[in-house]
Amino acid sequence: NKNILQDLHGRDHTYLRISLIERCNLRCSYCMPEEGVQLSPKSDLMTYEEIYDIAKTFVKHGVTKIRLTGGEPLVRKDIPVILEKLASLPVELSITSNAVIIDKFIDVLKMHGVNNINVSLDSLNEEKFKHITRRNEFKKVYNNILLLLKEGFNVKLNAVLMKGFNDNEIIDFIKFTKDLPISVRFIEFMPFDGNKWDISKMVSYKEVMHYVNDSFSEADVIRLKDAPNDTSKNYRIKGYKGSFAIISSVTNPFCDSCNRLRLTANGQLKNCLFSSTESDLLTTLRAGKPIEPIIQKAVQAKLKVRGGMNTLEKLQEPKLHNNNRSMITIGG
Ligand code: GTP
Ligand code: 5AD
Ligand code: SF4
Repeated sequence: NKNILQDLHGRDHTYLRISLIERCNLRCSYCMPEEGVQLSPKSDLMTYEEIYDIAKTFVKHGVTKIRLTGGEPLVRKDIPVILEKLASLPVELSITSNAVIIDKFIDVLKMHGVNNINVSLDSLNEEKFKHITRRNEFKKVYNNILLLLKEGFNVKLNAVLMKGFNDNEIIDFIKFTKDLPISVRFIEFMPFDGNKWDISKMVSYKEVMHYVNDSFSEADVIRLKDAPNDTSKNYRIKGYKGSFAIISSVTNPFCDSCNRLRLTANGQLKNCLFSSTESDLLTTLRAGKPIEPIIQKAVQAKLKVRGGMNTLEKLQEPKLHNNNRSMITIGG
């Protein structure tokens, strides 16, 4: 039988990102508009049974990795049972969190084998953190990152770089990896609805490497081998315990090796982070009909690069990038 998760460009989709909730306990400006977003009515959100049913179908057709996102996934009240259900599937289960309340979930994460935790942290400076997240939770996040490492989790930090805001912290972030076995990933700022993106605010892969080369000698900057289907280009400073990386979705997208599909909290399948087309799996599931045909159709409609914005020029056209969703309801 035909692999329904293979698209017309030969890409096999083995990685499903599931957004569990649209709400978040932070309000990062690059992720949501200041006034907030229109939340789906509760009855439109997938229940844990529906999440499990949909995930099971994807696993049956070849998904081997599931990452839970949000909003903030840990804000969802039934997160323990979601983890329990999904952990019963033969997949690598991971989570992306802002870590504000993750200390309360150490045991449940361990119990269900959730070992890979990606944490969003855009500044090592408490005031700047408060400015970008509009909340005063820096100390909790910082201490929770140290806690996760102490507890043996595999932790990656995600830092979205914005010009004039945190580009002066690139080297501090890298020095953070000297004694800690952590990977810091610098992310190029991407356009989503309501986040006031402008390419001039973005710090590019190339610019990050200029900062790096100004501070470290060439021989000390080691290019690492990236994992298959990795979002990032990985490096290590010689002798450092951790590593750093760049996620260059704007200047150097990794669409050729894309293996990702996304399920929103209200049960819509997105075939690409940048695609505004959504396929309604939840309504079909609730009608008792098979979701495979819809999944297959969505996968086959996937465009080669960035939902059709294949050039930087196209990415900069507001009418092309402004009819997606806000990042807070996509989950990254
Ligand atoms: P790993 O499982 O550790 O590889 O995590 P990840 O990089 O897939 O996920 P994470 O949630 O940590 O996302 C980090 C950054 O990568 C975010 O800014 C995401 O928006 C971006 N990202 C994740 N998946 C994709 C993707 O399919 N396409 C693009 N363009 N960016 C992505
Ligand atoms: N551009 C790039 N990355 C973003 N994220 C959220 N919004 C944006 C954006 N506009 C990242 C966060 C989070 C990850 C899932 O997505 O850093 O860690
Ligand atoms: Fe995949 Fe779309 Fe991201 Fe490219 S932009 S890597 S096609 S999700």
